[in-house]
Amino acid sequence: MLLVWEKPSLGLLCVGFSAACGAWALYRLRGRQVHVEWKVAGVLLLLTALCSCYLPASAGLPLFCGICLLSALCVPLQDMLPVHGKAVLITGCDSGFGHALAKYLDDLGFRVFAGVLNKKGAGAEELRSACSPRLSLLQLDITNSEQTNKAYTEVQSSLQNSGLWGIIHNAGVLGYVGDGELLPLSVYKKCMDVNFFGAVQISKTFFPLLRRAKGRLVTISSMAGHAPLPGFAAYGASKAALSMFSGVMRQELSKWGVKVATIQPGAFRTSIYGPQEKWSDQDEHILGDLAADAKEDYGEDYVKTMKDCYQEMISMSSADLSPVLSDVYHALLAKRPRYLYSPGRSAYIIPCIFHYFPLWIYDVITNKMFEGTKKLPPRALQTHQTHNEKHE
Ligand SMILES: NC(=O)c1ccc[n+]([C@@H]2O[C@H](COP(=O)([O-])OP(=O)(O)OC[C@H]3O[C@@H](n4cnc5c(N)ncnc54)[C@H](OP(=O)(O)O)[C@@H]3O)[C@@H](O)[C@H]2O)c1
Repeated sequence: MLLVWEKPSLGLLCVGFSAACGAWALYRLRGRQVHVEWKVAGVLLLLTALCSCYLPASAGLPLFCGICLLSALCVPLQDMLPVHGKAVLITGCDSGFGHALAKYLDDLGFRVFAGVLNKKGAGAEELRSACSPRLSLLQLDITNSEQTNKAYTEVQSSLQNSGLWGIIHNAGVLGYVGDGELLPLSVYKKCMDVNFFGAVQISKTFFPLLRRAKGRLVTISSMAGHAPLPGFAAYGASKAALSMFSGVMRQELSKWGVKVATIQPGAFRTSIYGPQEKWSDQDEHILGDLAADAKEDYGEDYVKTMKDCYQEMISMSSADLSPVLSDVYHALLAKRPRYLYSPGRSAYIIPCIFHYFPLWIYDVITNKMFEGTKKLPPRALQTHQTHNEKHE
């Protein structure tokens, strides 16, 4: 009997090749803790869809194969270290990212030291009941050196000689959002005190334990500390100081085998905007502090509408905190963590535009972004506008 070799079609070859790439990718993933780069995977999937929709089969299928090969090579790149036996300290776990991180890392098997501003508060109570016995709560106001030293003693005696794998600088305050000229000096000082000096104090106290473990320092800074955003003078300046501190620590701690990462989230819906009572106190605080000529130029109505921006910002924020959690996880456990993570909408693109585009483009974009938060022009400018309109 004569066997006839039929040339397989291009389509069949491509499907076979893609299946082999997929199998290889799965084989590489097998039994290993890997962090899949979802953004890369998303782009590859999109390319694949475009190839199959818009290109003729002779070009689309080979391109599709190429993409499969690239994904098999690139997507599962990040090997993760095992969690077992690793201890982390997180500051500011009463609410928001810190609270969610404490639960998430406890769930993954970390030994968590969760610093809280109020050990008897609702956030601490929730952690006590929801987490495993591995989690320890620490009374830790990061601006208070007595509480910091006490927390250090507790962590050190609990770890004995094993060292601390991770420090997560998370505790932070926003202060008020509004024109930098109007914000009381006390708001600038509070932001610097908590967001910058507090983190420095925690670092200086806990670094010996971190160096011993050759661990990871993860700092939750902000996009507002990287690119100027209107209304964020006090908060942004304190976060810029924090980011720079983190950058220098990356250089200095590398000789000890410690890796350092900065997380710059975009806008997320947490307790950062504070309760509504704080928004009402803001008018009184700002107006009581304001010099007479500034009060005259801006007007009371302008100051009173400043707080309306919080509702606007909350509606612009994402309620899903998972991008921040997975970036912290990556920074703690990836064999090659990145230096900078930008979770959240616009968190990557806004600093990019600030650095690489002409400034006027950046100004147009940020003005557009914050347009909804501006309700009224300052009184003196209103008068000029009306005056100009009358003479036109
Ligand atoms: N949410 C966002 O959109 C966003 C964006 C970029 C960066 N961040 C940063 O992410 C970090 C976490 O903020 P979050 O959004 O999760 O807000 P959050 O819910 O207000 O969390 C901040 C936590 O820090 C605590 N804290 C305040 N002062 C402290 C002090 N002196 N010592 C210890 N803890 C203190 C707060 O306690 P109380 O609740 O008792 O005040 C709160 O638990 C902050 O550094 C923030 O700047 C947030």
